[in-house]
Amino acid sequence: MKKRLFSGIQPTGEVHIGNYLGAIKNWVKLLGKYECIFSIVDYHAITVEHNPKDMPQRILRVATVDIAAGLDPERCTIFIQSHVQEHVELAWILNTVTPIGHLERMTQFKDKAARHRENVNAGLFAYPVLQAADILLYKAEIVPVGEDQVQHLELSREIARKFNSRYGDIFPEPKELLSDAPRVMGLDAENKMSKSMNNYIGLTESPEVIWKKLSVAVTDPARKKRSDPGTPEICNIYHLHKYFSSNEEIDWSANGCRTAGIGCLECKKVLSDNIVQELAPIRGKARELDNNPGYVQDVLRRGAERCRELAQETMKEVRSSMGLDLNLHPQPSKL
Ligand code: TYM
Repeated sequence: MKKRLFSGIQPTGEVHIGNYLGAIKNWVKLLGKYECIFSIVDYHAITVEHNPKDMPQRILRVATVDIAAGLDPERCTIFIQSHVQEHVELAWILNTVTPIGHLERMTQFKDKAARHRENVNAGLFAYPVLQAADILLYKAEIVPVGEDQVQHLELSREIARKFNSRYGDIFPEPKELLSDAPRVMGLDAENKMSKSMNNYIGLTESPEVIWKKLSVAVTDPARKKRSDPGTPEICNIYHLHKYFSSNEEIDWSANGCRTAGIGCLECKKVLSDNIVQELAPIRGKARELDNNPGYVQDVLRRGAERCRELAQETMKEVRSSMGLDLNLHPQPSKL
């Protein structure tokens, strides 16, 4: 029996190369090795303000791009979180074994609370509990994510332990699995690449847009003119080369920068061409899927059916372990 793997992605509409290098590319590699389940986590996405009218399109877009990037629906299960309502039921139950102090320590909560001061809601606070529920509902043992999720995974293990010690051994402790690009920096070279910081390259963006974004991306700040030698190690463009370029090109970029033999734009152009080349098949496949929207919806429908079955099995065990399985007598009383 293969171990089960679970991971999730928020329906932000635009999947970026941070998501791709940090998570999705790794998901694709692991398809044969584990029994894989991937979720578009829309219940998580509503913890910050959103436009309800856009949500269905955002969900479908992320599913489409995931499939286009290599999540073959014949080799894994892909579903929308809110189509399996047991996620919220288990999250509520897990809330009751999660110490508030642990949630207060979550750096993502602190960051988001600072950025969305007008809307610091209880859902944002309990976000990591829902994430633990996502994973534990399927008793998944492997969770491939980027580095920003490691703290949430530590908490998921803690929650599993707390539940098991109180109600019996039901959940395995899930373990994170990092890719070789666990933290991709954004084009501002200051923050992690993310949709909300608008410092990203989208997986299906056109070559023109990719070049436009890269041409103004921040490089080594000490290299003010073409003739200044630079320090590749502190240049984000050099780090992006490491993900998309050949070894010769990586050396060319480092040496050229150090000796001022090449300019930043020249260096960016090679990177841009390589990114465009790697993303071209994904862009093409996404366009094909856009012409066949019924296919993506079928995948999501089948995915939810499969996950509902698994989720119901776990919830039966959970309810029974907690004394929440009282069976009422089928006959009405004579009173
Ligand atoms: P989300 O939607 O922010 O990101 C999806 C995946 O992409 C990774 N990632 C990155 N990796 C490297 N560099 C970056 N700049 C970068 N930006 C994003 C994330 O680490 C993630 O793996 N809370 C999760 C979604 C979630 C989940 C789960 C994940 C909900 N339930 C259960 C695993 C298991 C999130 O917001 O991911």
